Amino acid sequence: MIEDLRKRNVHWAATKARIDPEYFRRLSAQQSPDYLWIGCSDARVPANEVVSLDPGELFVHRNVANLAPPQDANFLSVLQFAVEVLKVKHVIVCGHYGCGGVRAALSGKRHGLIDHWLAPIRCLYEDDVEHFDRILDFEARLNAVCEANVLAQVRAVAANPFVLDAWTRGQRLAIHGWIYSIKDGLIRDLGASVSGRKDAARLRGRTAALPKPASPRAAESADR
Ligand code: CO
Repeated sequence: MIEDLRKRNVHWAATKARIDPEYFRRLSAQQSPDYLWIGCSDARVPANEVVSLDPGELFVHRNVANLAPPQDANFLSVLQFAVEVLKVKHVIVCGHYGCGGVRAALSGKRHGLIDHWLAPIRCLYEDDVEHFDRILDFEARLNAVCEANVLAQVRAVAANPFVLDAWTRGQRLAIHGWIYSIKDGLIRDLGASVSGRKDAARLRGRTAALPKPASPRAAESADR
């Protein structure tokens, strides 16, 4: 089911590019559903469109920097409804490279209320600052934090009591970590899918290694 979405995405990107070869270049220059999408509010990442699903096929929650905060009533209401009422089979956390929310969190500047919202990303960065600061190119570093943030949100969803209770009931439910590139319209699977408590434990063990590029050079080539 999930692989089908990836194929749809590739097809969508190819079709758009064939009809209008300038489509992605132009975009990058500006700035009963089976799936719950947790994505960024960024207008360039329209959930349904990028996986080529019709309205009604995707339950969508978007906020700045695609967070899944365990104390946010808005997010928790969406998650509970999706899991317990809609009984979605998949929860997809989809971040995107070049995220303005992540950029703001890394900037060290004051922006107002949003600084509080973005504090978890700042913490994520500071917890592993030596690793991230070895990536000298700022855009590459930003993208590494974007990926790390997606993985952190997958862990948060996998640790959420609504999700744990669903697994305890034997409900089929998988969490996935994806990241989208505005520059080519393609989604990358970060290989962090979780479909039960054991998976979640394994993911916790793997977190430190997962988002880390092999070298600053690798990180730069990963910058899209
Ligand atoms: Co964003």
